Amino acid sequence: MHISSAVFTVSSQKLSQCPTDGLPEFALIGRSNVGKSSLINMLTDRPGLAKVSSTPGKTRLINHFKINAKWYLVDLPGYGYARVSKNQRGEFSKLITDYVQKREAMVFLFVLIDSRLDPQKIDLDFIRMLGEHGVPFGLIFTKCDKQSDDRTSSNMAKFRRKMLETWEELPPVFRTSSEKKTGRDDVLDFIGHCLET
Ligand code: GTP
Ligand code: MG
Repeated sequence: MHISSAVFTVSSQKLSQCPTDGLPEFALIGRSNVGKSSLINMLTDRPGLAKVSSTPGKTRLINHFKINAKWYLVDLPGYGYARVSKNQRGEFSKLITDYVQKREAMVFLFVLIDSRLDPQKIDLDFIRMLGEHGVPFGLIFTKCDKQSDDRTSSNMAKFRRKMLETWEELPPVFRTSSEKKTGRDDVLDFIGHCLET
């Protein structure tokens, strides 16, 4: 899919502030620092469109970016950020759960997973919550440039095995590097396909 325009639209601190034009949304979620904002910049080929930081907790609001005047990419705050208040620690903030459970315009949610790590409880817990609420989602394994392809494949296989302990079928899975711009076409073609059907 060709991206001819990518425009920041609004930052929202609650669901009621999100756009009301009803355009379909594809959202990115995952642990703090996993690379959500970087992936928005890579997919749109607009460096600096979404704010990136090496310090976790950079994105605190829901950010909508209008693509080709037809759909939105949505950058969400990360979960599992250690330096937040006690009752948020290790949990998913109300903003995130509100968005993924209630946002009618959301067509599909990409859950970003750090490809360097063994399966993490917080990600598996989040995915279980998505299952309980029937949220359509896929997995994107990020930062694949940081290690060999074999290592990435082996970590992805571990994650799949872990999921198969509780899930009967696996969601769509992608691997990306925002640094090397790999996986871009796979993700954009998937979105294009969702928009056509
Ligand atoms: P929060 O908004 O804090 O939840 O983080 P985020 O998930 O939006 O992560 P962000 O895109 O801000 O990236 C976090 C750090 O990881 C930054 O230092 C990025 O440069 C780096 N990073 C993100 N993606 C990649 C990647 O594919 N490869 C490499 N090498 N670094 C990456
Ligand atoms: Mg961010």
